[in-house]
Amino acid sequence: MAEERLISANVLEEDMAETTIRPLQLDDYIGQDRVKENIKIFISAALERGESLDHVLLSGPPGLGKTTLAAIIANELGNPIRKTSGPAIERPGDLAAILTNLEPGEILFIDEIHRLNRAVEEIMYPAMEDFVIDIIIGKGPAARTLRLDLPPFTLIGATTRPGLLSSPLRDRFGIISRLDFYSPEDLAAIITRAATILGIAIEPEGAYEIAVRSRGTPRVANRLLRRVRDYALVKAGGTITRATAKKALQMLEIDEWGLDTVDRMILEAIIVKFAGGPVGLETLAAAVSEEHDTVSDVYEPYLLKMGLIQKTPRGRIATERAFQHLGLPYGAKTEEGGLFE
Ligand code: ADE
Repeated sequence: MAEERLISANVLEEDMAETTIRPLQLDDYIGQDRVKENIKIFISAALERGESLDHVLLSGPPGLGKTTLAAIIANELGNPIRKTSGPAIERPGDLAAILTNLEPGEILFIDEIHRLNRAVEEIMYPAMEDFVIDIIIGKGPAARTLRLDLPPFTLIGATTRPGLLSSPLRDRFGIISRLDFYSPEDLAAIITRAATILGIAIEPEGAYEIAVRSRGTPRVANRLLRRVRDYALVKAGGTITRATAKKALQMLEIDEWGLDTVDRMILEAIIVKFAGGPVGLETLAAAVSEEHDTVSDVYEPYLLKMGLIQKTPRGRIATERAFQHLGLPYGAKTEEGGLFE
């Protein structure tokens, strides 16, 4: 099963492969044109003024290139980047140690920034706003506050859940950019670029075939590319053509819409077990043996985008398209009590 997790979180082997194919400059970053244009202007302005770039919040579903973009921003500014994540910073002291060790102009990248705890967040406010932190020394009536100056820095926060960010934190970002799912054309370009770097022979139709099944996500596209390359090597003389890509993806159980086995299990569960919905997130996640965060952050955004599910106040429902996609008769749930055994 782990092998089939084509859209799950990072895997070490994959991270290493991704590092070699990650673009280092904005001009090599494909897609997200509006975000790119904005960031380009802000970077040029910061460089011209000789100031640090305003803090940046990048949001969007996993795998769309938030970390890549942060690394590009640092590279374009010519400044180092330090990467950490919300859950890794447990205590205010941890953040104070990171902040006081930054170099002037350094980029601090915090992934999953919505998971910073409140006490840590409070250290962050004056740090972001005035480049200072207030440290409390001692306890009780003898406690004193010590104010420390920080070097100017740029915080880049990444989140899959911008709605979970507290408003004081969100308000302190000068640049807020939302990354969206990529078009098949952009993904085909990303796949072709990665194939060139990895020395994989691929035809444009082969790249497009992988692109349309990559759920709008470069991380998925690059992962599928490597799997299809293996198949092409063993079964088809090494070149990825449309036919080879199609066969390889069929073998991986990725359907024409890019859905994998877990996506289909989710849709099937809503339709068959819960009579088309509505069903709550926790119940649904339990039915498909997944963490609820994985269902809501990794699977649902694409199912929503494809119009296969809807979120209602009472829970998730499967749309008519979902019934059609799985070849199940829509509406029959009411006549037959919701069961397609
Ligand atoms: N690899 C991952 N995301 C990319 C992007 N947006 N452009 C080029 N290569 C990428």
